Amino acid sequence: MRILVTAGPTREFIDPVRYLSNRSTGTLGYALAARAVVRGHAVTLITGPVTLTPPQGAAVVRIVSAADLAREALAALPDADAVVMTAAVADFTPADTHAHKLKKASAALTLTLKPTTDVLAEIGRRKRADQIVMGFCLETENGPAEARRKLASKNCDFIVLNTPANFGDVRESVTVFARGGDQTPLPPLDKPELAARLIGLIEAARGKE
Ligand code: CTP
Repeated sequence: MRILVTAGPTREFIDPVRYLSNRSTGTLGYALAARAVVRGHAVTLITGPVTLTPPQGAAVVRIVSAADLAREALAALPDADAVVMTAAVADFTPADTHAHKLKKASAALTLTLKPTTDVLAEIGRRKRADQIVMGFCLETENGPAEARRKLASKNCDFIVLNTPANFGDVRESVTVFARGGDQTPLPPLDKPELAARLIGLIEAARGKE
């Protein structure tokens, strides 16, 4: 299978030295890419800025912003059999990026933000019936309801429901929601173990390879 994995945070620049970002470390995305390589799949890893070393054998595309990620992921989509969207894409980006470092001229500063492309939703709109799409959903409240809503609204085959407690190098317990209504709670697993389970679900959904 040809598997496209996106991982890590994006950075949305305010000026040449400041940006908006999030706590994503990319650990799960890199573990998924590594597991997919081990299973013999052809892996493309589109990664935001993280300190991890990509797995040997994966084709790596480095991106910075949500706009970069949208461009690269949508360009790679037609050649993918499966897409795993672990990237923590910024939902908003500054309406203007200042060419020069902002000076602290006044007591308060108001940033105006504009929405970014929802890459997963766009992938859901464009995907062929033979392509498997796995999205992730990080919630601090109403997790299951939000996961089911995103599964339908973003036309995904799987949504993996996560919590902020799972950031970084910890054991994760997540619940996987599948198209058709199946709901699979997974026990606390380290990221390589979780990655193996998730790649296994994608392989089973493709029913071959
Ligand atoms: N995602 C994306 N593009 C964005 C934002 C998110 O592709 N601009 C993807 C993430 O990679 C993840 C999924 O959407 O797989 C869910 O992200 P999440 O932040 O939980 O959900 P949102 O779509 O941002 O929804 P909301 O803000 O309503 O919770």
